[in-house]
Amino acid sequence: MSLSLEPGLRLVAATHNPGKARELAALLEGRFTVVSAAELGLAEPEEPESTFVGNAIVKARAAADASGLIALADDSGLCVAALDGAPGIFSARWAGPSKDFSHAIRSVEARLTDTESDDASAWFVCALAVAWPNGPVVAVEGRIDGSLSFPPRGDRGFGYDPIFVPEGGSLTFGEMDPEAKDAISHRARAFAALKAALF
Ligand code: IMP
Repeated sequence: MSLSLEPGLRLVAATHNPGKARELAALLEGRFTVVSAAELGLAEPEEPESTFVGNAIVKARAAADASGLIALADDSGLCVAALDGAPGIFSARWAGPSKDFSHAIRSVEARLTDTESDDASAWFVCALAVAWPNGPVVAVEGRIDGSLSFPPRGDRGFGYDPIFVPEGGSLTFGEMDPEAKDAISHRARAFAALKAALF
């Protein structure tokens, strides 16, 4: 089996989040026909692993084996140095069932204050995994370093974007032009690594 992705292949995006499926499809630049795990009626797996790569592999593996198609999955989050890498793989869960990121951001700020640390460094991670049905899996990771800034600024992004200032910049991801964020983001870097590995 060749571990490369030929143009025109039908791939399953291993996500039940329509926004993420669209984002993954956009990043694949029309090279492939992309269907989502939700469209195929596949079950949503737990995220049992302790790393981004581990969880991306579990999601891709489950979708590939259940659908018989090559599957692409991602797992991402924000890591704060003074919080020993938290929220990390729990980034989405810190926002609770109502996905309230202003609550998640307040939790990050409160915990950071509790540490009495003056280290505001943080980084975003995106892991991507491609799995072949009952076959191999390839996983890569992208990371962008920066620092946290409070109060939150900007409403152009999502999640933790309003408190993250990338290294060398002064605007938060929430204030930046989305194209400028996409040019340097953890997700873009993971995709570059994936393209180098497979396309
Ligand atoms: P998951 O990959 O679906 O487990 O969720 C990742 C979570 O990490 C998202 O819900 C966001 O809260 C956060 N996250 C990941 N990437 C970004 C980003 O680019 N900006 C802001 N928050 C992000």
